[in-house]
Amino acid sequence: MSAEKQSFFDGLACSWDERFYRDDEVNLRLDALAVRLDVKPGFRIIDLGCGTGIMSGRLSALAGEEGRVFSCDFSMKMLEMAKGKSLNAVSICSDAHCLPFKDKFFDRVVSFSCFPHFDDKPRVLKEANRVLRDEGVLVISHLLGSRELAKVHREVKGAVSTDRLPSKKTMLRSLVKAGFRVLEFHDEKGFYLLRARKHNGVKSCIRAFS
Ligand SMILES: C[S@@+](CC[C@H](N)C(=O)[O-])C[C@H]1O[C@@H](n2cnc3c(N)ncnc32)[C@H](O)[C@@H]1O
Repeated sequence: MSAEKQSFFDGLACSWDERFYRDDEVNLRLDALAVRLDVKPGFRIIDLGCGTGIMSGRLSALAGEEGRVFSCDFSMKMLEMAKGKSLNAVSICSDAHCLPFKDKFFDRVVSFSCFPHFDDKPRVLKEANRVLRDEGVLVISHLLGSRELAKVHREVKGAVSTDRLPSKKTMLRSLVKAGFRVLEFHDEKGFYLLRARKHNGVKSCIRAFS
């Protein structure tokens, strides 16, 4: 785990929502994205790298009373901000590379706006696969495309300046290696969405997406 990155995000927690989620338009786009995550009432979901819980609240509304959202982040300060919102979600302070959950615990693993920051991405994908039930779905998403994200991180400097989404080829290969079948992949201006289903040992084919 990168202590430098952790303190970088700790330092941003107080101003995070004001910086990034002030605009109504952004919030409407988040609402629209949440609907595409195919969350059903009763689902158990982990919001990986939840930050201040911007997606957790939406996931919790979709999962309903019978469902359960676990908001996971390695930044205590981010989690404190999320807790302050009294979201209907369980806060978990953990590194995404090593999750404190038993195998096949979740129906959905959602990683919104944080995948580039994971130091060992293949390991996080394997961990996501482990905690997903069979046929469970992993979602990786951003409200920017990979090129725009790279530019933003480059300009931020500091602990995240070299954080990137992997190339499409690398991402699809890593997903297959981790035990996923890719359902959907979009990487365009203003939007990144990847959905992949955990499969049961049947070799998947990535040709259609490469
Ligand atoms: C760019 S922020 C996004 C936060 C939130 N998802 C949002 O969209 O507002 C990335 C988040 O991922 C968290 N994060 C980065 N690496 C992590 C790791 N290895 N394990 C857990 N959380 C991590 C950071 O602390 C930060 O809160």
